[in-house]
Amino acid sequence: MRIALFASGTGSNVKNIIEYFSDKPKVSIVSVYSNKQNAGALTHATNAGILTRVFSGAQLKEIAPIYQLIEQDRVDLIVLAGFLLKIPEEFIVKFKGKIINLHPSLLPKYGGKGMYGNNVHKAVLAAGEKKTGITIHYVNEHYDKGAIIKQFETALSTEDTLESVGLKIKELEKKYFPSTIEELTTTTQL
Ligand code: GAR
Repeated sequence: MRIALFASGTGSNVKNIIEYFSDKPKVSIVSVYSNKQNAGALTHATNAGILTRVFSGAQLKEIAPIYQLIEQDRVDLIVLAGFLLKIPEEFIVKFKGKIINLHPSLLPKYGGKGMYGNNVHKAVLAAGEKKTGITIHYVNEHYDKGAIIKQFETALSTEDTLESVGLKIKELEKKYFPSTIEELTTTTQL
């Protein structure tokens, strides 16, 4: 099973996933793709000796350039790990059922355009939610609306701040995202 990671940010999830699979020969993290040249995710990949590929938003919209690289890397599964651009519909059609995303809320709540990272946590706190969590789901043509694979929750209290919610989410991501990917690779015909 050959996995490509797509990331735009600091890359804590990229790091966790690379480390988790480093001693699991059945799964290989073959490349890390980013639309940001200075993304921390690329540094984690380089440090682990994994191929990095940087592209622009325009190249993603064109589809062919990225599609060719994905084919070249012989990728079976694309994992969006903090990737903030919308994947074009034509691309999703080509990789139907083979792109999954991590979202830092209990979808369908707090998903959609503009809902990423701290924006999500701010909205959750402002609404006085008693819990939040993470969702791992398939990517379809509608933002954050693909079939849910798994969700994991954490309780919130009135003491919680933007920082503490962020930490609780990171903890869930570290504990459950890599293992859910592994489960998917063993239980699904990708
Ligand atoms: C993660 O919390 C992930 O859930 C979120 O971006 C963060 C990236 O952190 N993704 C989204 O908000 C997608 N809509 P990282 O760069 O440290 O992995």
